[in-house]
Amino acid sequence: MKKILVKLGKNSYEIRTGPGILPLVGSWLKEKGFSGKAVIITDATVKKLYAGVLEHSLARYGFSATVIDVPAGEAQKTLETAGKLYYKLAEVFTERTTPILALGGGVIGDLAGFVAATYMRGVPFVQVPTTLLAQVDSSIGGKTAVDHGQIKNIVGVFYQPALVVADIDTLKTLPAVEFSNGMAEVIKTAAILDMGFFSYLEEKMEKAASFDTEVLNDIVVKSAALKSDVVMKDEKESGLRVILNYGHTIGHAVEAVSDFRIKHGPAVAIGMSLENKIACRMGLMDEREAVRINGLIKRAGLPAELPDFTDGQREKVLELIKHDKKVTGNRTRFVLIRSIGNTFITEKVEPEIIREVLFG
Ligand SMILES: NC(=O)c1ccc[n+]([C@@H]2O[C@H](COP(=O)([O-])OP(=O)(O)OC[C@H]3O[C@@H](n4cnc5c(N)ncnc54)[C@H](O)[C@@H]3O)[C@@H](O)[C@H]2O)c1
Ligand SMILES: [Zn+2]
Repeated sequence: MKKILVKLGKNSYEIRTGPGILPLVGSWLKEKGFSGKAVIITDATVKKLYAGVLEHSLARYGFSATVIDVPAGEAQKTLETAGKLYYKLAEVFTERTTPILALGGGVIGDLAGFVAATYMRGVPFVQVPTTLLAQVDSSIGGKTAVDHGQIKNIVGVFYQPALVVADIDTLKTLPAVEFSNGMAEVIKTAAILDMGFFSYLEEKMEKAASFDTEVLNDIVVKSAALKSDVVMKDEKESGLRVILNYGHTIGHAVEAVSDFRIKHGPAVAIGMSLENKIACRMGLMDEREAVRINGLIKRAGLPAELPDFTDGQREKVLELIKHDKKVTGNRTRFVLIRSIGNTFITEKVEPEIIREVLFG
């Protein structure tokens, strides 16, 4: 088992990763001083697979655990579902000290985290991520949120967990599309921050895709450590943390214009590839670096180009980029890379270049 310490003053916590560690959660919670009740929030799919093991582990260490499940999928990340969860928590007579455990992917992590942050003005929260995306990205950094209307993650709060437990073995039941979805964030993290890690991924991508435990463990540990480093330097995204949005300025727009038929990971992959094109056209990035990143994107089962969007859809992508929530002044802020591991933030991208890349 590997431990990564996320140092955030009184909000500090550990990420523990490794294979077969789900049964240890009960003892770790006891060690952290929790006792009595515990609530596991999960989705229907993950419940069938892993809630039993977690419940058993908690019972073994004297916890009386209640499992609450919601249907799987992004559609549950709403205030309405949060409202239902508050009722369920009240039924169980949870107390201020009762930990809520989020067992599942990023949807459950964001939703249960939001509920934990707001119920009784905040109860202890533990992340038990079971998708690659959640283990390398969403369970780290304390962003919790629900969607509202058409806008994703618009109602939320920063709320750090007390502990993150990422059991690599849970990834073995993950469908291939979910693997690719998470791998997009892994590639992003390596591309913006760490050339050595990027080369490692080039060496091991196929092993990772065949769920080799050792490789996946290395990948989760490295990605989690890199993201934690950024979060430690900028907990609330007032500066450096913005670099994690590489690929996301265009990616978010592509995702939205596709009516979310293109998942987040593939959309970010398209975003990385197009944002690299922008950097190349501006003469800031060597074409060979872009080719290398595209190569890894494709080997992870992800797209490196816009699908057959109509001109109208491309116009809409352009429009959304102009209104990106990270816009400052009147130019959209882009995270671009000069070379793998060498990242910068710029507001100097000419709208004409964005247009050329989208329609090119
Ligand atoms: N908070 C953050 O910083 C942050 C960062 C990135 C993404 N997110 C959010 O994360 C969400 C996406 O997360 P996700 O991709 O994990 O989606 P998800 O939670 O919907 O999980 C994807 C699917 O995999 C299933 N699943 C989960 N674990 C499984 C397992 N071990 N075996 C088999 N199936 C399993 C789920 O039931 C679901 O159907 C989005 O809502 C996004 O906004 C948040
Ligand atoms: Zn993302």
